[in-house]
Amino acid sequence: MALAFAVAAFVLLLAVAHRPAIAPIARPDPRSFDRTLVARGTNLARIGNCVSCHQTGAGRPYSGGYPVKTPFGTIYGSNITPDPDTGIGLWSRAAFARAMREGVGRDGSHLYPAFPYTHYAGVTDGDVDALYAFLMTRPAVSATPPANDLLPPLGFRPLLAGWKLLFFRPAPVRADRSQSAEWNRGRYLGETLAHCSACHSPRGLLQQEKHGSATYDGGWSGGWYAPPINAHSPAVREWTPERLETYFRTGLSRHHAAAAGPMGPVTYNLARADPADVRALARYYTWWMRDAPAARIEPPLPDRRALAQRQFPIGARLYEGACAACHEPGAPMVVSGRPVLPLGTPLHEDNPRDTIQIILQGLRPPVEASGPYMPAYADALTDRQIAEIVGYLKARHGSGPPWNELEKEVAKAREEGQ
Ligand code: HEC
Ligand code: HEC
Ligand code: HEC
Repeated sequence: MALAFAVAAFVLLLAVAHRPAIAPIARPDPRSFDRTLVARGTNLARIGNCVSCHQTGAGRPYSGGYPVKTPFGTIYGSNITPDPDTGIGLWSRAAFARAMREGVGRDGSHLYPAFPYTHYAGVTDGDVDALYAFLMTRPAVSATPPANDLLPPLGFRPLLAGWKLLFFRPAPVRADRSQSAEWNRGRYLGETLAHCSACHSPRGLLQQEKHGSATYDGGWSGGWYAPPINAHSPAVREWTPERLETYFRTGLSRHHAAAAGPMGPVTYNLARADPADVRALARYYTWWMRDAPAARIEPPLPDRRALAQRQFPIGARLYEGACAACHEPGAPMVVSGRPVLPLGTPLHEDNPRDTIQIILQGLRPPVEASGPYMPAYADALTDRQIAEIVGYLKARHGSGPPWNELEKEVAKAREEGQ
C-alpha cells in the first residue's frame, strides 16, 4: 500500500514536472541582430550582473563554471555563450524566454533557483529580446561547467517542480502611478534584473526568499552578510540618492565605505550601465531606506579608544601594528578622502561577518583599478588575533548589539567564504 502510494506520488510529480523540449534552431547569425537592440541588451546584462555567475576567474565571459554555493550544495553557472554544443547556440528566442521567465531549460528540465529566474520572470518581452540579442552576439566559447554537487536527492530536477509550486509566483512589475517615472524604472530594474533582494532579503528553509515585512531585511551571500536596505538599514549616514548613485558608479561612498565581497561585482557592473538607470535604482532604494535611523538623524561617530584598549589590549596592539597606518584619522588614505572606519556600515551591523570577511579577504578597489587597496589577512593572522582586532574595533567605533564568540565567528567566516 505504502509502496503503491509512493509510486503514484512519483508518477504525479513527473506529470506535474513535465515540460516539453523546445526544438533546436541553427545558431543565429550574429549580424542578423539589430545593433541598438544589442546595445540595450549589453546594458541590461550589466544591471543583471549575469557575468558574475557565468564566468570563473580563469574562464571567458559568459562561458560558465562559477560555483553558486547553497546550503544544499554547489550549482555551477551554465555556459550561456552561443556555442552550439556546450552553450545556448541552438536555443530559440522562445527557449531563452522560457528559461528566463519560468526557469526551464531548452530540453524541458527545471532549473535551480540559484539562477534568479524568480526575479527575471518579471522582465518585459522587449528586454528579453535585447538580452537574447546580446548573448547571441558574444563570442562562442566551448566550455562545460563542472557537474553540480548537491545533497541527494536534490540532483533530481523534477523535484524543482514541487519547489516552484510552493514558492514561485511569477508576476510582471506594475507601475505605481503615485510615484515618479524614475522611481518606477528603479523598481522594475531592482526587482527583476538587478535581483537585489536575492542577497538583501532573508531566506527560508528551502532557500525561498521571505517577503512582506522581511523584504530587504538583510540576507546572506557567499559567506557575507548583505545588510538590511529598508527601514532597518544600520548605516550611520543617510543613503541619499546622490550618495547611493556614487556608490553604485564608483564602488565607494565617502560617507560610508567601499563595496566589499559580492557587492563589489554588483557595483563594477553598475558602473558600466546606463547612468540614468543607475540613478533610477538609487532613487528607488533610497525610498526603501527613507525611514532608516540615519535618514532622520545622523549620529555623532563614537571613538571610545581608551575603553576599547582596556577591553582588548591585544587587539589594540595588533591594530596599531597592522591597520592604523591606513585607517587612523591622520593616515594618508583618510586625509585624501577615504572614509574613516566608524563610517562603514559593517561595524554597526548586528553580526560581525562583513568586518571579519574584509579583514580575511582584503578589499580591492572594485571599480577603478587605482587607489589604495587593503591586503588580505587570512594567512597572516590567526582566528584568535582577528577576533581580538574585531572586538577592539567594535568596542571602539561600533554601535548596535554586542558581538559574541568572535573566534568561532572567524572560523565560520573562513569556512563559508571560500
Ligand atoms: C546568482 C547567480 C546567477 C546570475 C546573477 C545569473 N545566473 Fe544564469 N544561471 C545561474 C545558474 C547557477 C544556472 C544553472 C542552473 C541549473 O543548472 O539549473 C544558470 C542558468 C542560466 C541559463 C540556462 C542555461 C542552460 O543551459 O540551462 C540561462 C539562459 C541563464 N542562466 C541566463 C542568465 C542571464 C541572461 C543572466 C543575467 C540577466 C543570468 N543568467 C544571471 C546563475 C546565475
Ligand atoms: C550577490 C549578492 C548581492 C547583490 C545581488 C546585491 N548586493 Fe548589495 N550588498 C551585498 C553584500 C554582501 C553587502 C555588504 C558588503 C559591503 O559592506 O560592501 C552589500 C552592501 C550593499 C549596500 C551598502 C549598505 C551599507 O549601508 O553599507 C547597499 C546600499 C546595497 N548593497 C544595495 C544593493 C542594491 C540596491 C542592489 C541591487 C542593485 C544590491 N545591493 C545587490 C550583496 C549583494
Ligand atoms: C594598505 C592600507 C590598508 C591596511 C593596512 C588595512 N586596510 Fe582596511 N581598508 C583599506 C581600504 C582601501 C579599504 C576600503 C576603502 C575605504 O573604506 O576607504 C579598507 C576597508 C576596511 C574596512 C571596511 C570599511 C569600513 O569602513 O567598514 C574595515 C573594517 C577594515 N578596512 C579594517 C582593517 C583592519 C582591521 C586592518 C588591519 C588588520 C586593515 N583594515 C588594514 C586599506 C587598508
